Amino acid sequence: MAFKMQTEHNIATEFDKFSVNYTTDMIGCVPHYLDLLASFTKDLPREFFPYQILDLGCGNGNVTSEVLKLFPDSNYTLLDASDEMIRICKQRFQQYPMTYITSYFQDHVFEENLNDMVVAGFSLHHCHSEEKKRLFKAIFHSLKNAGIFGFSDLMIDKNSPEHPELIKEWKSFVFKSFPDGEKWNWLMDHYRDYDKPDDYKNQITWLYEAGFNDVKIVMRQDYWIHIRATKQT
Ligand SMILES: C[S@@+](CC[C@H](N)C(=O)[O-])C[C@H]1O[C@@H](n2cnc3c(N)ncnc32)[C@H](O)[C@@H]1O
Repeated sequence: MAFKMQTEHNIATEFDKFSVNYTTDMIGCVPHYLDLLASFTKDLPREFFPYQILDLGCGNGNVTSEVLKLFPDSNYTLLDASDEMIRICKQRFQQYPMTYITSYFQDHVFEENLNDMVVAGFSLHHCHSEEKKRLFKAIFHSLKNAGIFGFSDLMIDKNSPEHPELIKEWKSFVFKSFPDGEKWNWLMDHYRDYDKPDDYKNQITWLYEAGFNDVKIVMRQDYWIHIRATKQT
């Protein structure tokens, strides 16, 4: 299942640049980043063993690295639009037989009934609402029965009345690590140009509409959220 990338193609080059101090920047710029990474494997069903795992928007591989701790023998496919992020992952996981795909989600052909687990860390907020809806359907169809889709992200609508307060708290968080304000200014430029977060309640509705029948919030701190959706056909 594929749908064509319609948004600007320069997100790949944006993340080529962002890759340089990526993990330090994420810890200092994304509240609860490490807890949201840990949520991918928190309280999974005891009998769950994913043979095939797809990491959508793998970045420098922090989500895969987290899942790898619990499932070192699984087969991983890492997908990202950024050549540089894929290059970093190839180096980071050189001792593992990973599969790498450089592609936009929107151009990727999702093979049906292939994956046991699909993960996406802080990558889906780069998609518009309609792209998210189509992606949730493609992910659902790519999963086997009892397959799990987990994603961590900022999940608030930019037009919501709570958004200004979120920005205020986010700013004071970022200033603790980067007090000169330069990082915050860069982050807000990036947020304006590339980020399209959606409210978590809407995303939960879209997941049910895509066919998932068990959707849970695994972790929530304000609008920094991890959602887990299970396919039971
Ligand atoms: C903020 S990083 C997250 C990386 C990693 N998953 C993590 O949790 O730290 C977002 C990643 O998603 C990728 N990305 C964003 N939009 C994308 C799209 N439409 N198709 C493919 N990759 C995309 C970017 O290139 C970037 O590497």
